[in-house]
Amino acid sequence: MRILVVGGGGREHALCWALARSPSCTALYCAPGNAGTKACAESVGIPAEDIESLVDFAWQQAIDLVVIGPEAPLVAGLADRLEEAGIAAFGPSAAAARLEGSKAFMKDLCARHGIPTAAYGRFTDLEQARAYLYRQGAPIVVKADGLAAGKGVTVAMTLEEAEAALEDALISGRFGDAGGEVVIEELLEGEEVSFFALCDGTTARPLVSAQDHKRAHDGDKGPNTGGMGAYSPAPLMTEALQARVMSKIIEPTISGMADEGSPYQGVLYAGLMVTPEGEPRLLEYNVRFGDPECQILMLRLESDLAALLQATTEGRLAEAEIRWRAECAITVVLAARGYPGGYAKGETLHGLENAAAVEGVTLFHAGTSEAPDGAILSAGGRVLNVCALGTDLATARERAYKAIDCIDWPGGFCRRDIAWRALER
Ligand code: AMP
Ligand code: GLY
Repeated sequence: MRILVVGGGGREHALCWALARSPSCTALYCAPGNAGTKACAESVGIPAEDIESLVDFAWQQAIDLVVIGPEAPLVAGLADRLEEAGIAAFGPSAAAARLEGSKAFMKDLCARHGIPTAAYGRFTDLEQARAYLYRQGAPIVVKADGLAAGKGVTVAMTLEEAEAALEDALISGRFGDAGGEVVIEELLEGEEVSFFALCDGTTARPLVSAQDHKRAHDGDKGPNTGGMGAYSPAPLMTEALQARVMSKIIEPTISGMADEGSPYQGVLYAGLMVTPEGEPRLLEYNVRFGDPECQILMLRLESDLAALLQATTEGRLAEAEIRWRAECAITVVLAARGYPGGYAKGETLHGLENAAAVEGVTLFHAGTSEAPDGAILSAGGRVLNVCALGTDLATARERAYKAIDCIDWPGGFCRRDIAWRALER
């Protein structure tokens, strides 16, 4: 198979790394990629949002499978355009990607199919939204309907905060079209956990559990980020809970989408709240792998990823083999100081070779670029994923931090407590 991976972050480096090891992959490209993907895939200078150029490239290069990493091109219909051109794509159609692209769509689907989630209302009119808000009271959650780069959710402790969020979205246009409609929903209490399943339109197969840390600083404090680290397995996700998530949430979603004419193909990433009674409830869907969760899933995957993704696109997931390493995995994100706010770019990272030489360690690049002299430069907020395998989580974590300590980059920072919840348990 000739394969094109779309995207340029740590998730895509990990996907390229796993595909490059797949016996069924004969040629591998990454658009646009980063300084790390170059080691396993040929870089293609096309941005992930440039749908027409990606389809042209895939056609000209006789690509057999396009693996779409980020949500934006999925929501914009890249999988549909490839399909029209006769090229297989791993990732949902635009219609199915509404599970992430429209929170109101996702909530309505849950309501139609009895999928447990927070009670909600959806509004385009400020006065109606306000009236609902006052009937419900605080605390409450306000969400922009569309894609808002992780900034569209306000967990409001007071009615004033909630009203400000409504006005931001509906009146000030802070999220553009994405905030033309809002969902107001009940605040759920409990412990958050992520869940990943491969879906081929009719069959869903769970992946091993993985959990990220969203806050920027130790102790899960500070601003929300795309994820500062992750670990697998997540002890909260027991076999019994996994079975409940599959039967109560994932399977009704897959059959509901198929029945309504938008079968879901790709990886489905559920953000869940596990209530104090141990019941899973759906917070959100993403229509892609989590970043950085994907990095550790790829480290633990033993099966041929290319064959597995092909089986997914061809509706053969029921018979596919999905084998995992027994070892635990962890990833720590090295980010530029200031992230998720403003930060500098173009700083040199030293010591990467020594870091990569630590036992059990693999480095995946996220926001990096390569200088003409071969130096690795920072080029984004999340810059590097330092990943490690170990017989247990404590060993994996020790190895990852040992590797981090080999890296010399005064402009970078990381959390020092990734996996603390799991290790405390
Ligand atoms: P989302 O993008 O919908 O996952 O929201 C981002 C974060 O907001 C989640 O990871 C939760 O921490 C929080 N959140 C979203 N919805 C709710 C809810 N209904 N109850 C409590 N917390 C929520
Ligand atoms: N790590 C969270 C995300 O990918 O959305």
